[in-house]
Amino acid sequence: MKNLVILISGRGSNMEAIVDARIPGIRIAAVISNRPDAAGLAFAQAHGIATRVIDHRAYATRDAFDQALMAEIDAQEPDLLVLAGFMRILTDGFTRHYQERMLNIHPSLLPAFSGLNTHQRAIDAGCKLAGCTVHFVTAELDHGPIVIQGAVPVMADDTAESLSRRVLALEHQLYPQAIRWFAEHRLLIQDGRVVLQDAQAPVIDSLVHPAG
Ligand code: GRF
Repeated sequence: MKNLVILISGRGSNMEAIVDARIPGIRIAAVISNRPDAAGLAFAQAHGIATRVIDHRAYATRDAFDQALMAEIDAQEPDLLVLAGFMRILTDGFTRHYQERMLNIHPSLLPAFSGLNTHQRAIDAGCKLAGCTVHFVTAELDHGPIVIQGAVPVMADDTAESLSRRVLALEHQLYPQAIRWFAEHRLLIQDGRVVLQDAQAPVIDSLVHPAG
């Protein structure tokens, strides 16, 4: 059994998708939020998952917050740390500590459109495809070895909101898939890239590509 700790800051729909996927070999040890009002906390509690709040506003520095967060996470002895809409910039010490055992999901086809407002920026750039990326977290924001990506079309009349809904539906498929592979020991990081072991293509459909 692999222990998972999930960090959220808000809605928590990716966390819900991961819980609902009931991934074999995965035990969700805790859901931790930096915001006491994160809507996702209620869902986790209703599913009997331990929840914790480490309010970043109670800490004078980013470093002090990350230290407190790390202590809380490590008390759960996680094999994998999953960032699911966790809206904090992490210190280098934090990313180093969870190197090769921390995943993030970003709502763009990285390395395009890292950072915020990804959907509007993809529309403004005239992109015909948008999508999402699950990747291992490194010190550089929204970078790191890519586990899986999925793409959706951008429609002529899309708004950031309509596009984000389409991408989010895909996020909910891809994040559990990435974690399933982790549980199966199939994610090998080689020269900064993920090589999926025993890959059988295609994974979900032609617009979803595993690493390899
Ligand atoms: C998602 O779009 C995710 O890709 C991004 O933040 C959003 C979180 O949504 N990192 P939710 O809290 O999982 O519903």
